[in-house]
Amino acid sequence: MPTVLVTGANRGIGLEFVRQYLDAGWDAVATCRNPDSAGALEALKQSAGDRLSIQKMDVDNAGEVRAVADALAGAPIDMLINNAGIIDNYGQGVAEGGDDPDLKNTDADEWLEILKTNVVGPGRVTGEFADNVAASEKKMVVMMTSGLGSIANTEQGGRYAYRTSKAALNMLTRNAGAWLGERGVSVIAMAPGWTRTDLGGESAPTSVEDSVAGMRGILDRLTFADTGTYWNFDGRQFPW
Ligand SMILES: NC(=O)c1ccc[n+]([C@@H]2O[C@H](COP(=O)([O-])OP(=O)(O)OC[C@H]3O[C@@H](n4cnc5c(N)ncnc54)[C@H](OP(=O)(O)O)[C@@H]3O)[C@@H](O)[C@H]2O)c1
Repeated sequence: MPTVLVTGANRGIGLEFVRQYLDAGWDAVATCRNPDSAGALEALKQSAGDRLSIQKMDVDNAGEVRAVADALAGAPIDMLINNAGIIDNYGQGVAEGGDDPDLKNTDADEWLEILKTNVVGPGRVTGEFADNVAASEKKMVVMMTSGLGSIANTEQGGRYAYRTSKAALNMLTRNAGAWLGERGVSVIAMAPGWTRTDLGGESAPTSVEDSVAGMRGILDRLTFADTGTYWNFDGRQFPW
C-alpha cells in the first residue's frame, strides 16, 4: 500500500488528508507539534492501528525533523504533503483588518516567523525526506500553497507575510522540483481553496472534506509529466 506523510496533521486540512488517505487504504505518517494533545489523530488510530504512525515534528525544529527522518530511513513515502502553515492576523478577515494594506502596520517579527514555517519548514522537510520519496512508487511532494501566493493574480495590498511566504513556496516548488526531477520525483503546488478550518475561519465557502477530496482527485491523476504545476482544489490551474 502507498504511504503518505503529512505535516501539521493534527487538525484542519492536514488531519483530513490523513483521514481520507487512510479510508482509501493508504498507510499514513501523521506528524504534528504535540502528539499528546492530538485527540483527533488518536481517534483515527483506534481504527487504523499500525497503518497510522503519529510522530512529533515541528517543521521549525531541525532536530525533530531529522529525528523522524532517521526513524523512517529506508521507508518509501509515496506522497509527502507539506501542509503545516500559519498566517498573519490569524482569524481576522478583511472586515477585521486582516488585509490592512498599510505596510507600516505589518509586524516584521511575525513576518519572519511565517516565512520560517511556511517556506523554510517545507524546504527542510523535503530535504530530509527526499530519499524516502525517491524510493517510493508515486514519488510526489506536495506544497500546500494558496491562491494568495499567485504573483500574477495579485491586485491588492495586505496580508504581506502570508502572501510573500506562499509566493516563495511556489518558487520552492519549481526550484526543488528541478533538483528532484533527476530522481523522478515530482513537486506540485496545491491550493486548498478558502476552506473552513481554524485558519480559514467560519465564513469560508468550502468544507474541509470537499477541499481535500478535490485535491486528492487531482493528485491521484498527476504524473511526473506534471511536475512544477500549480493547482487549485477545484481542478483549475493558477498562473504563477
Ligand atoms: N484554510 C484555508 O482557507 C487555506 C487556504 C489556502 C491555503 N491554506 C493552507 O493549508 C495549510 C493547512 O491550513 P489549515 O487551514 O488546515 O490551517 P489550520 O487549521 O490552522 O492548521 C494548521 C496546521 O499547521 C500546524 N502547524 C503550524 N505551525 C507548525 C509548525 N511549525 N510545525 C508543525 N506544524 C505546524 C498546526 O499545528 P498546531 O495545532 O500545533 O498549531 C495545524 O496542525 C496551510 O499551509 C495553509 O496556509 C489554507
